[in-house]
Amino acid sequence: MKVVLGVCGGIAAYKAAEIVRLLQDRGIHVQVVMTEAAQEFVRPLTFAALSGEKVITEMFGAQGPASNPNIDSAIEHIAVAQSIDALLVAPATADLIAKFAQGIANDFLTTLYLATTAPVVIAPAMNVNMWNHSATHANIELLKSRGVTIVEPDSGYLACGMTGTGRLADDGAIIAAVMEALGISQDLSGETLLITAGPTREKIDPVRYLTNRSSGRMGYALAEAALRRGARVLLVTGPVFLTPPGAAEVSRVESAEEMRHAVLKLFPEATVAIMTAAVSDYRPSAVAPHKIKRDGATTLELQPTADILKELSQKRKSQIIIGFAAETENVLENARKKLISKSLDAIVVNDVSHEGVGFDSDRNAVTIITQGEVIEVPETTKWKVAQRVLDQVVGLRRLIPIAKS
Ligand code: CTP
Repeated sequence: MKVVLGVCGGIAAYKAAEIVRLLQDRGIHVQVVMTEAAQEFVRPLTFAALSGEKVITEMFGAQGPASNPNIDSAIEHIAVAQSIDALLVAPATADLIAKFAQGIANDFLTTLYLATTAPVVIAPAMNVNMWNHSATHANIELLKSRGVTIVEPDSGYLACGMTGTGRLADDGAIIAAVMEALGISQDLSGETLLITAGPTREKIDPVRYLTNRSSGRMGYALAEAALRRGARVLLVTGPVFLTPPGAAEVSRVESAEEMRHAVLKLFPEATVAIMTAAVSDYRPSAVAPHKIKRDGATTLELQPTADILKELSQKRKSQIIIGFAAETENVLENARKKLISKSLDAIVVNDVSHEGVGFDSDRNAVTIITQGEVIEVPETTKWKVAQRVLDQVVGLRRLIPIAKS
């Protein structure tokens, strides 16, 4: 998804840098467009470095569009207008609001506004008298009547030395409005999801270990989807070749015991725990101090690892706890047994004997079993499976309110 962040000239322009980061944390691609006045407050380089994209600063270069290194073509505003999923302006000045309201298109941002059909979100910031002026008020009402979302400014001490309404709204309110404009619900805001992902590795000797085929994709998809839906995410990950989403608070572990320690430490902070990790059930009873030499047949003595999920259930306060199970036979029956024996609120089971889904794949087909329901999710992407699992979290939360500490 792509959002243009328009930055206008005002003291609050520096706050747009944090907005870039918060949008990127939610997996959103950000293109920054700065007005001429904005560049008096913050250098375009700041936004270019943060967004990883050249910043659009003007409509045409001094010798015409071809000479402007910021713009690829003379009709860039049309190309950008057609490619975006939302236009956010933060901070928006009284001048910009007036131009939008009147349809004046004399720079890139104002032209983009007229040329796009994507939803528009405006977060104004200005002096209290400018905000309260009937001209601004009329412009705001006009924009609202045309479907523009206005994130009302907060009141408090303003940079001009006055006190009143006019301060750029809180980052959270701006991000929530953009996510709503993008059609991404914030139904997990206030939740802290503890998610485990990937395999574990149990050392045999200094060069060998026991592990499994888990890629971590399911857990990482859940982490990213939960962040987009407004949750805080604590991701405990075994060794995988994936990049965690920027906003996840990541703990990297190797063995089942390290995963257990990390999970138990974080669990009191969590309101939801989802264990997608394929935790090794066994570990070698002893780790050989030196590489085991090939010397005829050998036997590896194994001992069971602790069942982390079961331990969590015993320690739960009001957390929602969801397990995953990969089965190859008696799929539903085995999953139901685990739902009960581990005291889970739900278990997500997949039949890993099917080729092309589950381990090491971008796709999955699962059944979500709760205490009262069986929900089939036919083969689809892990992203969509993640969304369905999170829908269950939202549903379960209606039954299990968060305990007040
Ligand atoms: N699990 C865990 N700790 C373990 C093993 C598993 O927390 N030592 C969790 C997994 O993360 C998963 C759920 O328990 O969410 C079910 O894992 P699974 O391996 O299918 O179940 P087991 O209890 O190990 O049963 P079995 O392997 O015998 O089927």
